[in-house]
Amino acid sequence: MQWGGRFAGGPSVIMQDINASIGFDRKLWRQDIRGSRAHAAMLAMIGVLSAGDERAIAAGLEAIGREIEAGRFSFDAALEDIHMNIEARLTERIGEAGKRLHTARSRNDQVATDLRLWVRDAIDGLSGQLGDLMAALARRAAQHAGDPMPGFTHLQTAQPVTFGHHLLAYVEMLDRDRSRLADCRRRLNACPLGSAALAGTSFPIDRDMTAAALGFDRPTANSLDAVSDRDFALEFLAAAAIGAVHLSRLAEEMVIWCSAPFRFIRLSDGFTTGSSIMPQKRNPDAAELVRAKTGRVTGGLVALLTVMKGLPLAYAKDMQEDKEPVFDAAEAWALSLAAIAGMVRDMTADVVRMRAFAADGFATATDLADWLVRVPKLAFRDAHHVTGRLVAIAEARGVDLAGLSLAEMQAVEPAITTEVFSVLTVEASVASRTSFGGTAPANVAAQAAHWLEMLA
Ligand code: ARG
Repeated sequence: MQWGGRFAGGPSVIMQDINASIGFDRKLWRQDIRGSRAHAAMLAMIGVLSAGDERAIAAGLEAIGREIEAGRFSFDAALEDIHMNIEARLTERIGEAGKRLHTARSRNDQVATDLRLWVRDAIDGLSGQLGDLMAALARRAAQHAGDPMPGFTHLQTAQPVTFGHHLLAYVEMLDRDRSRLADCRRRLNACPLGSAALAGTSFPIDRDMTAAALGFDRPTANSLDAVSDRDFALEFLAAAAIGAVHLSRLAEEMVIWCSAPFRFIRLSDGFTTGSSIMPQKRNPDAAELVRAKTGRVTGGLVALLTVMKGLPLAYAKDMQEDKEPVFDAAEAWALSLAAIAGMVRDMTADVVRMRAFAADGFATATDLADWLVRVPKLAFRDAHHVTGRLVAIAEARGVDLAGLSLAEMQAVEPAITTEVFSVLTVEASVASRTSFGGTAPANVAAQAAHWLEMLA
């Protein structure tokens, strides 16, 4: 035990259980080794370590990395955490030099550095996955740029949109998720190493050197803040929570779309499961689990906010509880992105059925009202009222708006002419929505092409 000098007795078993983090922070082993190598190289550069000691440390750490990678490293809960497990093994392997590594640093700046490096790697991986999913959606959007489907508000048929337009809505959300990660990355990319326990150090360390070696933009500027700041983890969790909420919405739509009453899409065998009792079932479990994993991601954000609230400066052991929510959220988000991307790539859309339902529920009523404004120049409020009366008549007769005769329409509004029938089809409706950001197939095709080019 590295801190045992002033203790006569060892920790109780319960103390060890509550204190040890090695069960989860072993995930930080790569970052820990990387940080230690940069620290040792810097100590050698300023003459605090001999060149020989530095070489032994570097070689020892590299060998330990290989041991861990190969599953040959035995992690010991008595050594609490990843930092002391690696340091103890280093000293076991190389002797005296290993005991010099912890000069001018503390586990407080060490763990802050390790976790920043880990979150940075996670951000890079997740950003790549977000891009992959965006590309998968944009490809399907290009394919379905002109295929109408019912657009909903309140999950009631509202106006026809194209399926491609609907899919591109998610591309916009995912792009914001990516940019939230990029913001988080920019702010987290400062190096705490060298802040030591809380006050800095009396050794003439070169913090710019370690920061640069670890790919940070700069060293952190206040040692108290550096060891006690977990904003980067909170920001990451907040970005993850929003990202997971976005995926849960798409997952929910997939669950709805593949249900028997809808049947807008069919999910592949690869992303559905059967029922042990009902032979006909194809359950969208992957989509349901993506929807559900949002719970643990948002829970992680709330957990860490609660851990940090009211903590006095500087480091407190409470902060050890930062890791599991971060690891768990990153894992859940990554798996959800992979699952949704797989479902999007594999799914088939029943465009005939979508088209049929796009016309349902008087979906082109707004087109009729707009025509009354545009051609016979009714005020929109009057046009809205006339259209409402026509919908009521059509509903009573069990036909859609195009099923009314001209005479029936003129009985309500004499200014109506046969030209009105040209705006009542689903195709005419979507084609007319050419305003920027609207659902017209030409818009959607151009947007999909834009995204595919951006993501290539
Ligand atoms: N395992 C600890 C953590 O995750 C490392 C830092 C320990 N620092 C300390 N002063 N006990 O936070």
